[in-house]
Amino acid sequence: LRIVVLFGGRSSEHDVSVLSATNVMRALDPARYDAVPVFVTRDGQWLLSSFANGELVKPAGGTEVCLLPGGRGRMLAIPAAGPATELPKADILFPVLHGLYGEDGSVQGLAEVARVPLVGCGILGSAVALDKDIAKRLMNEAGVPAARSVTIFQGQTPTFAELQRTLGLPIFVKPARQGSSVGVSKVESEAQYETALAEGFRHDPKLLVEEFIRGREIECSVLEDERGGLFVSRPGEIVPAASHGFYTYDAKYIDADGAALNVPADLPGDIEKALREMAARAFRAVGCDGMARVDFFVKADGGFLVNEVNTIPGFTNISMYPKAMEASGVGYAELIDRLVAHGLA
Ligand code: DAL
Ligand code: MG
Repeated sequence: LRIVVLFGGRSSEHDVSVLSATNVMRALDPARYDAVPVFVTRDGQWLLSSFANGELVKPAGGTEVCLLPGGRGRMLAIPAAGPATELPKADILFPVLHGLYGEDGSVQGLAEVARVPLVGCGILGSAVALDKDIAKRLMNEAGVPAARSVTIFQGQTPTFAELQRTLGLPIFVKPARQGSSVGVSKVESEAQYETALAEGFRHDPKLLVEEFIRGREIECSVLEDERGGLFVSRPGEIVPAASHGFYTYDAKYIDADGAALNVPADLPGDIEKALREMAARAFRAVGCDGMARVDFFVKADGGFLVNEVNTIPGFTNISMYPKAMEASGVGYAELIDRLVAHGLA
């Protein structure tokens, strides 16, 4: 089976995608999969890559790749010099891309146009889940509890005092359409609010200001089978190091001791059951299919809220999606097999 693995990408999570895709490539059994890595540059060019000694190559130039509309997986290779040639057909596309222009429905739309099967969530669920503002409205409507928030747009920002009255302190300022905590700030004062707005608007003209939830960070992995049944993993817990204040980008990927993962999380059975049911409900509310990781805050009294739904969750060494699946009896290789089976169905 020829599987085209897209990695890199235009978003600020480019480097995270390289880490995720390296693990995906390592898990693809060469006896069963003919994996073709395609590097998406920060500019958005698709370049033919390769995988050698367990590492992905990020070419600086070379052969461009294109999927033909309606081609059912037909692909062209366009070298820097010389004529284009046709590559062997792709059977399925696996976008291991995080954030905008990859996890947001755009590449999913391209797969539809090319008529090539796709691993993971389709256009609508991808687009909805990537927009924390829209996702939250749908979750609210479906009875999925989420943190209270105010959506703000560039040029129409409420004052710090207004937000403090509505949401208390501290508050979190987040770009509506980013992942890996890029552009997210914890705010306790008016001065911090001004800095947080400037930082947030560097990433997105739409921001969410959310109330602070004192709780544990718990995540569940959701995997859909070919018949539409949902498998929800046991919950895992992320314990960010106190030095980081919250689960920041650095705590995730830069600082090796930035966070600890406890999988499965130490939780009472009834709370685990409620979380797993809520993960499935959130998955449906947002319009997902295929896969997603649902992130929660669990409070000391056992109450919980959904923080967000990620349709292309991280597959890095410290990422919860594969680890929680493994703790639930679905190893890495089997996880990929099931994702591919879902995409081909
Ligand atoms: N956005 C990162 C990759 C995650 O959710 O794991
Ligand atoms: Mg995310």
